Amino acid sequence: MEKMLTGIRSTGTPHLGNILGVIIPSIYMANKNKKHSSFIFIADLHSMVQIDNIKTIQNNTYQIAAAWLAFGLNTDNCLFYRQSDVSLVTELAWYFSCFYPYQRLTLAHAFKKKEIEDKGKISVGLFAYPILMAADILLYNAKIIPVGKDQLQHIEIARRIANYFNKKIGEKLFVLPNAFLQKQNMFVIGTDGKKMSKSQKNYINIFSSDEILKKQIMSIRTDSKSVKENKDPVTDNIISLYSLIATVNEIDMMKKRYIKGGYGYHEAKIALYEYIIHKFSLERKRFFSFMKNKSLLDHILALGAKKAKRIAYERLNYIRKHLKLNSII
Ligand code: ADP
Ligand code: TRP
Repeated sequence: MEKMLTGIRSTGTPHLGNILGVIIPSIYMANKNKKHSSFIFIADLHSMVQIDNIKTIQNNTYQIAAAWLAFGLNTDNCLFYRQSDVSLVTELAWYFSCFYPYQRLTLAHAFKKKEIEDKGKISVGLFAYPILMAADILLYNAKIIPVGKDQLQHIEIARRIANYFNKKIGEKLFVLPNAFLQKQNMFVIGTDGKKMSKSQKNYINIFSSDEILKKQIMSIRTDSKSVKENKDPVTDNIISLYSLIATVNEIDMMKKRYIKGGYGYHEAKIALYEYIIHKFSLERKRFFSFMKNKSLLDHILALGAKKAKRIAYERLNYIRKHLKLNSII
């Protein structure tokens, strides 16, 4: 059975992009997969690359955990853990960083973007981010990696590292991972029409209060057409988001209203808001209830870490053997 693995950074509450792009498809796969073949973790070590995040990482970790559980992740069947609780992964990242060419990492998108925006703020951790991500994946020999489109380059780097090590150190030491993407959900747009992101404040957070959620939806950018005018259902942001969650018939009805005219953007936003409230009512209830029980979240994550550690320990010793190092004492 092929192993599946994915992680979400604890940099904020999971938004609709994380949910549709990663959480829902991963849970579907994890619940179908053989016991202990799915690894889902909270990438809190990755969140640390920005020092500003440190204060909020712990609470964000609970939010990410609560979101996965609210959407029905069955933790008996998979390994659900905090990245920092299985810190053996950082050892593997070190081995990778000793071999991976520095020049290649300078080509990573996230690094290049930051280099343009603010070179002075690039930490070694940010630069080495893809190396730790490769270690997350290759430590468990995971093959299927559900992610959004922005992570494709990182998976490619993990493949390169796996390939390199297999050639130099030991054949088949690492399985080559593949990104798993669903075309429709791999790039969910935010309220400004760009990629929805925790850091851009353009997100729709279904786990916020009704009032804040409504505000987020009301801020979706549109053109300035009046209620009367007919509208383009292809380029509009509201209907793009509605299309990700509504049924074919419902989407079709909204499209017809757009084309006909007499249907304003305000009305479309209300329809989207009400749809979200209704569709995710159970998940929202569960989320708030998990957030009130942090000791339960700690307990669930600790159980997952215990199981993951056992596997990580065995794998790392095997890798150490190929690197002519002693087993972990
Ligand atoms: P963010 O970019 O909002 O901080 P993360 O980097 O923690 O979110 O992303 C966690 C996972 O969710 C990654 O696999 C990422 O590709 C995916 N993801 C993030 N934003 C989106 C989006 N707008 N659409 C689809 N997938 C997304
Ligand atoms: N880098 C991913 C992100 O920014 C999070 C992540 C860390 C991840 N390690 C991973 C995703 C391993 C998939 C597999 O969203």
